[in-house]
Amino acid sequence: MYTSIIAGLGHYVPDNVVTNDDLSKIMETSDEWIVERTGIHERRWIDPATGDSPSTMGTKAARMAIENAGLTPDDIDFIIFATLSPDYYFPGPGVMVQEQLGIKEIGALDVRNQCSGFVYGLSVADQFVKTGMYKNVLVIGAENHSGGLEKSTRGRGVTVIFGDGAGAAVLQRSEDSARGILSTHLHSEGKHAEELSLLGPNTSRWVPEIMEDNDPEDASYYPYMNGNFVFKHAVTRFMEVIGEALMTNGKKPEEIDLLVPHQANLRISQFVQKKMGLSDDQVYNNIMRYGNTTAASIPIAMSEAFQEGKIKEGDLVCLAAFGSGFTWASSLIRW
Ligand code: UT7
Repeated sequence: MYTSIIAGLGHYVPDNVVTNDDLSKIMETSDEWIVERTGIHERRWIDPATGDSPSTMGTKAARMAIENAGLTPDDIDFIIFATLSPDYYFPGPGVMVQEQLGIKEIGALDVRNQCSGFVYGLSVADQFVKTGMYKNVLVIGAENHSGGLEKSTRGRGVTVIFGDGAGAAVLQRSEDSARGILSTHLHSEGKHAEELSLLGPNTSRWVPEIMEDNDPEDASYYPYMNGNFVFKHAVTRFMEVIGEALMTNGKKPEEIDLLVPHQANLRISQFVQKKMGLSDDQVYNNIMRYGNTTAASIPIAMSEAFQEGKIKEGDLVCLAAFGSGFTWASSLIRW
């Protein structure tokens, strides 16, 4: 039986920095409100003139991850791409990464699990690697939120939170049983699907109907979030799924070297940290600089933490996510 180790990490964020003060010029909000409720100071939003998209940003993050793994793109056996904001309705961005990396005709799978998408993708990759089917699997999370946000006071409860970016990891076959992904845990509860969603346009409401409606005031074109409801479920599910990962592996919170939570809201991370009795050094947060980048948030945070020397070989790293679906997930990794 093989194990899967994270052999390389990479990330890419657009250059364009959007501060809270920038947002307060286009909607009724303030730096004080955003910092107090979310911890976010600024986020990156794609400048359309650059041509950045989820697939191009994902490819940039992937190139960095592949290089950090000491590999070339041709060493990759399979691509998994997690996003809620694909370049196109179809095909998904996985195939575009295959093309942009200029590699052989390997499989490319697209994952639609929103904020939990990266951990879901990692879990799928782990199964392929452990069974010996693939040796090096590229897992990418990337988002272009800014293109679809409602940039007005009506949309402020959602718009101030989300940012653009991409992160990637190369999962690699290893025969070192002491290292690698120890376990992954995936959950969903579809009865809350509409609490954090973008419901129109959809496959029952195609272009002719939308063009006929032609209603710029239609809020269903934009993401919707029942903020308080999502917040309450998030803190509960984060705690549960981290506990599940620890219990499965017979570990205690104090043994975690680094918890990398999905960057949903700094208050959620701080709540989880306090409840679990973790120190500041045991939890990595970068939401202050990037906002919530959904499927990209965990791989961006892991990549930065690794670059900063906060993840080292032998460390016990825990990933945890919660988001639209609802879906939630965790993974415990011996680095
Ligand atoms: O990543 C996926 C999972 N996502 C999450 O876990 C996010 C979970 N939810 C949250 O992070 C928080 O609920 C929010 C940050 C979205 C909102 O914070 P909140 O403390 O729950 O605020 P609220 O929605 O209860 O709104 C409080 C007030 C409202 O005004 P009234 O009704 O009290 O007069 C809002 O209209 O704040 C108002 N408000 C704003 N004011 C200034 C909402 N958004 C803004 C804004 N600027 N951007």
